[in-house]
Amino acid sequence: MKITLGVIKADIGSIGGHIKPSAAVMKAVRDYIESHGKKKIIDFFISHTGDDVAILMTHTGGVGDAEIHKMAWDAFVAGTDVAKSQGLYGAGQDLLKDAFSGNVKGMGPAVAEMEIEERPNEPFLFFAADKTEPGAYNLPLFLGFADPMYCPGLMLSPSMAEGFKFVIMDVDYTEGDRIIELNTPEDYYDITTLLRDNSRFVIESIWSRHNGDQAAAVSTSRLRNIAGKYTGKDDPVHLVRTQSAFPATGELLSPYAIGHYVAGTMRGSHNGPMMPCKQNTNISFFDGPAVVTCAAFCVHNGKFTEPADAFDHPFWDWSRDQISQKALEIRRQGFSGPAMLPYDDLEYGGIVEKMGKLDKLFTVRGD
Ligand code: F6R
Ligand code: MG
Ligand code: MG
Repeated sequence: MKITLGVIKADIGSIGGHIKPSAAVMKAVRDYIESHGKKKIIDFFISHTGDDVAILMTHTGGVGDAEIHKMAWDAFVAGTDVAKSQGLYGAGQDLLKDAFSGNVKGMGPAVAEMEIEERPNEPFLFFAADKTEPGAYNLPLFLGFADPMYCPGLMLSPSMAEGFKFVIMDVDYTEGDRIIELNTPEDYYDITTLLRDNSRFVIESIWSRHNGDQAAAVSTSRLRNIAGKYTGKDDPVHLVRTQSAFPATGELLSPYAIGHYVAGTMRGSHNGPMMPCKQNTNISFFDGPAVVTCAAFCVHNGKFTEPADAFDHPFWDWSRDQISQKALEIRRQGFSGPAMLPYDDLEYGGIVEKMGKLDKLFTVRGD
């Protein structure tokens, strides 16, 4: 059966700052999808990661289906009304346009979708991250799909040894989708050359070279490019199919133990480690560290099983302790050097304004 597997997520307001949405907001979004999705949606699952609400769905409308996108947009509008009525902080924050216009891409919410021919058994992972940017997934996805140090399947499974196609987007280009397609293993170094720059080049999708099937879809929206100013970090989502001709679930999870440094955390303007957390984790210390959650499912005829929480295991408790130390270590140097983002990536205008004033006060000393 051909189905569309998609997730659309938005920050529409949260309790106590940027911590988590209220139960009433979650209920409003769920109720909206339940009552309006009957005809169009096969199944759905609502969750939150930090302050972001995600609607995971299956349907048969294909990628970018206008009705599905409108339904998700309207569900977020319904949630925003509740957020406003409760005085939540940043109510409607990610709904950057006044009226829906065909597709939520470019309007604020993050989207990751793929149309797939459902396998008889179809395991997949739904990742959601808060307080970071889409390029945060570059490293774990690259290691999971291209590096035998993390993914022994590339050596052990003949179908995986044929490699994967990476579609990478230049997210600084705002006139349209500027993409490049590169293949592993032969383009390995070209791929890493791009992926080192998480703020500009983002893995958008990954495809099996064995059977041409899509393995992964990642949200690529950069809110500041839509709004023209900082309105909260992008907080990306991605979907990835696992097992058989794709990497095993554990091969895809294991790179998250690195807790690699990503852009985001406080005021979207710092570097900090990304911490793999249990589902529905709140945000705390220094509006971060950035969190990533992973709900594992199987889907059959478009119907989801219940989720298995992939980061709910004693191994990840230990890992989170190590990553907390990484968070403290970089934090100890406050504003200095790599602790904060470079000038062009700062998400608030204060420093840029100050530099404008200070620049005029500089003098060039005579000999
Ligand atoms: C939330 C985020 C936060 C805020 C910070 C200040 O996604 O990035 O770190 O930037 O809490 O928020 P404002 O400027 O809304 O007071
Ligand atoms: Mg968020
Ligand atoms: Mg937010």
